[in-house]
Amino acid sequence: MRAFMLAAGLMTVAAVAYAAPPPMPPYMLRPVAPAGDRLAPGRDGKVLFEVHCGYCHLGGGMGTNLLTKQQMLAGNAPEKGLLSNREDLTTDYVKAVVRMGKGAMPQQTKVDLTDVELDSVAKYLGKAG
Ligand code: HEC
Repeated sequence: MRAFMLAAGLMTVAAVAYAAPPPMPPYMLRPVAPAGDRLAPGRDGKVLFEVHCGYCHLGGGMGTNLLTKQQMLAGNAPEKGLLSNREDLTTDYVKAVVRMGKGAMPQQTKVDLTDVELDSVAKYLGKAG
């Protein structure tokens, strides 16, 4: 009887502990690629960024984590670890990093992201012109 009570008690604790799994981090919740012609210009840079770069650059992604550390070491706010919060990126810089890679970031090919998709993403991130 005591063993049964103990087992029932433990199962209750386990049920409570696992009842609500933590919410998934943003980098795991990025949208699926939008349908349509990947070579057609003028598509939504924010969505394309979330689809093609989000698994590293949305909240909790390894790119965000690494850039947050760099930004904080430079005395900037941790929010600047998200590329979408940066005001100092130019379109040319974004394009160069994407095609050539930088440090821990692997280069992204034209299969990962076509040239016109990169134009839209660079326009979205390149707030410094
Ligand atoms: C596999 C993960 C990964 C993917 C995919 C990725 N990045 Fe990165 N990115 C990183 C990491 C990690 C860094 C930091 C590199 C370092 O400093 O060592 C970085 C850095 C950058 C930087 C430089 C920021 C700075 O402060 O100099 C830009 C710009 C950038 N990424 C844009 C993009 C864009 C746009 C895409 C999508 C087309 C993309 N990245 C896809 C991991 C990734």
